[in-house]
Amino acid sequence: MKIKASCILCLIVLAGLFVFCGCKKRIQTEEKEITPIIVGFSQIGSESAWRTCNTQSMKEAAAVEDIQLVYANAEQKQENQIKAIRSFIVYQVDVIVFVPIVQDGWDNVLREAKEAGIPVLVIDRSIRTSDESLYAGYLGSDHTEEGRKAARFLQRKFSRVQRPLNILEIRGTDGSSAADGRYEGFREIINKDSRFKIIHSESGDFLRSRGKEIVERILSVNGKLQIDGQPIDIIFSHNDSMTLGFLDVLEEHRIRSGKDVTIVSVDAEQEAINALKEKKINCVVECNPKLGPQTMNLVKTVYNKYEIPRVTSVDETVFTEYDNLSAITPRGY
Ligand code: AHR
Repeated sequence: MKIKASCILCLIVLAGLFVFCGCKKRIQTEEKEITPIIVGFSQIGSESAWRTCNTQSMKEAAAVEDIQLVYANAEQKQENQIKAIRSFIVYQVDVIVFVPIVQDGWDNVLREAKEAGIPVLVIDRSIRTSDESLYAGYLGSDHTEEGRKAARFLQRKFSRVQRPLNILEIRGTDGSSAADGRYEGFREIINKDSRFKIIHSESGDFLRSRGKEIVERILSVNGKLQIDGQPIDIIFSHNDSMTLGFLDVLEEHRIRSGKDVTIVSVDAEQEAINALKEKKINCVVECNPKLGPQTMNLVKTVYNKYEIPRVTSVDETVFTEYDNLSAITPRGY
């Protein structure tokens, strides 16, 4: 009998939960026994260095706080996330934390969690829902603002240029708040400036391999970075993984990234900061993956039945070619 990968994933989550709930660790203090909080954490997958760091941050922060984290990797599938959340409900974890791969389609499962009396925290990516009471709060970046920051850098860089400037946009996962927000925020600014024209926009799903493929395909036409005869002056890439995927391709075609073509990326992983220092990237808008400590604080608050803010923001900046590059200290991932 052929067992689907998603079934195996579900069995792993269930087995993990069985072990966790069956052996709920008790911490002996002088006065009383404390039973740790159990958190079911549904992560999207491991599509980027950003994501790996985000998962690591969650695991480390949970360990520091003595919170038992039941981790489920959804392998980039919303259906796997829904299954994982349902398993968390069945096993009555104390709090559910999840990173929604896309914005829509969560209401039913969140209603089930609410009916079971389990508070839900949404982190990193936000959701669209008809009923805001279905989750306790959101912790993460303002992705629309990240798109605006990328556009503002271009306005600054080209403030003295009058010619038309053509943009290739490589988007993240369509339907995700990270990609949709960056898309919207970027256009909010860029569309008001007639010099800038987005001549092509395509999803690379936040994957390094897709960033490489997209630029390789464009260059395969005649070896030039152009679309329908229009030269590409700027690449706005929704994450560093996709950017790092195409930097080598440009080099192979003797196109000087950062000079012949301006590169704006998002995240600020170490490899991208190195490329910024080498002037191969012009600007990196930071998206902070280290959400673990703030998440665990919110977990403790909702567990103790206190309210949390609807939105908790994270500390982020923008790194550009105009900064003192030797002084740049990114978050070390
Ligand atoms: O949701 C955050 C985005 O997801 C990051 O920009 C990207 O690298 C990740 O995969």
